[in-house]
Amino acid sequence: MRTEHSARQQKTVQPGIVWLKLAVSYLVIGVAMGIAMGASHDFTLRPVHAHVNLLGWTTLALSGIIYTVFPQAGSTKLARVHFWLLNGALPVMMGSLAYILLTSDMQILPALVISEIAAAVSILALTANIFLNLEAKKEEKTGNGAQLKPAGF
Ligand code: HEM
Ligand code: HEM
Repeated sequence: MRTEHSARQQKTVQPGIVWLKLAVSYLVIGVAMGIAMGASHDFTLRPVHAHVNLLGWTTLALSGIIYTVFPQAGSTKLARVHFWLLNGALPVMMGSLAYILLTSDMQILPALVISEIAAAVSILALTANIFLNLEAKKEEKTGNGAQLKPAGF
């Protein structure tokens, strides 16, 4: 019984861990860009730096924490839509924005626009997931009435 309980905890917490590992990877890139901008006094890529940090680090980390605290919300279809749309869109969005800022070549603009829309839709999926699935935590009570605690902290 205890083993089954632990296995279930392990499984439900997993999505949050993936979000947090991706988030901290974006933080490394964002901080490196910040240091490079400061050192070179070339701020061309400031919007890329800002969004690598704010969409990559902050938004992904907050999502990971939310899905760890509320594992029920982290394992829904909406969470999967949120994950794949945002993590698919973000590298394209950052790459195409950097390319446009560095070269002024607007040929790649459709990729930027589509990835921005995909990122925005992923935020709608997060919003819907939070409104629809956070209360579901009450359903995760064990037989003796004890609440499941999120592991990993
Ligand atoms: C060691 C870490 C960091 C360094 C060295 C750094 C450096 C910089 C530099 C040089 C700029 C351009 C400032 C200008 O244009 O005058 C900038 C802008 C910005 N940074 Fe960072 N940054 C760091 C980390 C972060 C983090 C962690 C975040 C967010 C979580 C962040 C968010 C931003 C934002 C939003 C802007 C644009 C600000 C604006 O619109 O005026 N930065 N950063
Ligand atoms: C789908 C998501 C998002 C899209 C499409 C988007 C788009 C944009 C655009 C087009 C700009 C103007 C860039 C420029 O002036 O060159 C901008 C600036 C900015 N956005 Fe976002 N944004 C998104 C999400 C966010 C989020 C989640 C945050 C904060 C948590 C944020 C914070 C900022 C900041 C601080 C600036 C000013 C950056 C600078 O001075 O370079 N954005 N964003």
